[in-house]
Amino acid sequence: MSTTMTEELKKGLEDVVAGTTTICNINSDTESLLYRGYSAVDLAEKTTFEEVIHLLVEGKLPKKRELKRLTKLLIQERKLPKSLVKVLKNIPKTSNPMDVLRTSVSYMGTIDEIKQISIEDTKQVVYSIMAKLPFALMTWYHLSRGQDVPKISKNISYAGRFLQLVTGKEPDSFDEKAINTSFILYAEHEFNASTFCARVTASTLSDIYSAITSGIGTLKGSLHGGANEEAMNLILRFKDPQEAESGIIDMLNRKEKIMGFGHRVYKKGDTRSHVMKKYAQELAQKKGNTKLFETAERIEKIVRERKGLPPNADFYSAVVYYLLGIPIPLYTPIFVLSRTSGWSAHVLEQMSDNKLIRPRSVYQGPPPREVPSIERR
Ligand code: COA
Repeated sequence: MSTTMTEELKKGLEDVVAGTTTICNINSDTESLLYRGYSAVDLAEKTTFEEVIHLLVEGKLPKKRELKRLTKLLIQERKLPKSLVKVLKNIPKTSNPMDVLRTSVSYMGTIDEIKQISIEDTKQVVYSIMAKLPFALMTWYHLSRGQDVPKISKNISYAGRFLQLVTGKEPDSFDEKAINTSFILYAEHEFNASTFCARVTASTLSDIYSAITSGIGTLKGSLHGGANEEAMNLILRFKDPQEAESGIIDMLNRKEKIMGFGHRVYKKGDTRSHVMKKYAQELAQKKGNTKLFETAERIEKIVRERKGLPPNADFYSAVVYYLLGIPIPLYTPIFVLSRTSGWSAHVLEQMSDNKLIRPRSVYQGPPPREVPSIERR
């Protein structure tokens, strides 16, 4: 390989532009996040997750009629095939919920007669997967614990439905808005690791089930989606802000990473984090657990002062989920339920103007040599 290629090598593909997209942009000056030109923060304030799904997958915000159709579809398609329920019943209670989601999507692919389907047909598969995923996860979750799967209220939003499936209670409007906001803010994020992975899979002319399965596997890691669970476990380690302060200083002195801080792209701050912090603060007051919020805030202060690192979306999202009564192992799965919309939009975009994604590497192994006979090795 030429020297020029070696010089151009960027470890972890940092700052490498790997394609074009019309779906999402991180404004490099303001570091704001835009979905098809609309600010994600604005969308979180003014729309529902269903509208954002339509925006990402169909390319535009829905008219009333279109929203009604999509909302209905996401309810109608929720019924799980019997054979999938059987698979879910065989997955141990101790399994990682991310593996349950990955297996569910992968299994759905085995019972669908996947051919090289059109973009329009792929969209219908996307909606079917999105409708079923929360039910697949929570069916496994409750049945493996010997509990019934909660009944769902009529006219509840996609995000609120998930919360009800977890807690068994219909969320009030504030809690529903909080979870809806989180679903919107997690929905899409340009060429992040899991989306890129889904696009690579789609670029081989594989199918949507395989692309989403790739995305889930990639999102699972703690440097990506898994950070929200790690962040919550960290916050809960401390009984109050004082203990958090000395604990975080010790961790930083030991050069340990603080989960929920730092970002490959955002250097000044993650705009999503401000929104989730506001919800975390309001929920803490509403639920009477202000010490938890104060502890999180003290961690933020120390990491900012000592490392100059702002929190990313995961840090305060974790606090919001905790206050909404969601068990920690379900935090990264929420990310999947939301990001499936973004992954799907990217898969559709890749399909519409495909070229196989196949980069090169810089070889650093031994020079060319002869294969010795087995006696001489
Ligand atoms: N805590 C402490 N130090 C951190 C840090 C964190 N969360 N994130 C980055 N740093 C430090 C690194 O130790 C490194 O310091 P050094 O130059 O003294 O060695 C420097 O900042 C650069 O970090 P690096 O991991 O190389 O940057 P990256 O662009 O490859 O990584 C992340 C970005 C997101 C993987 C990284 O910030 C991280 O691991 N964060 C924690 C996990 C997380 O919250 N992930 C969710 C992302 S949305």
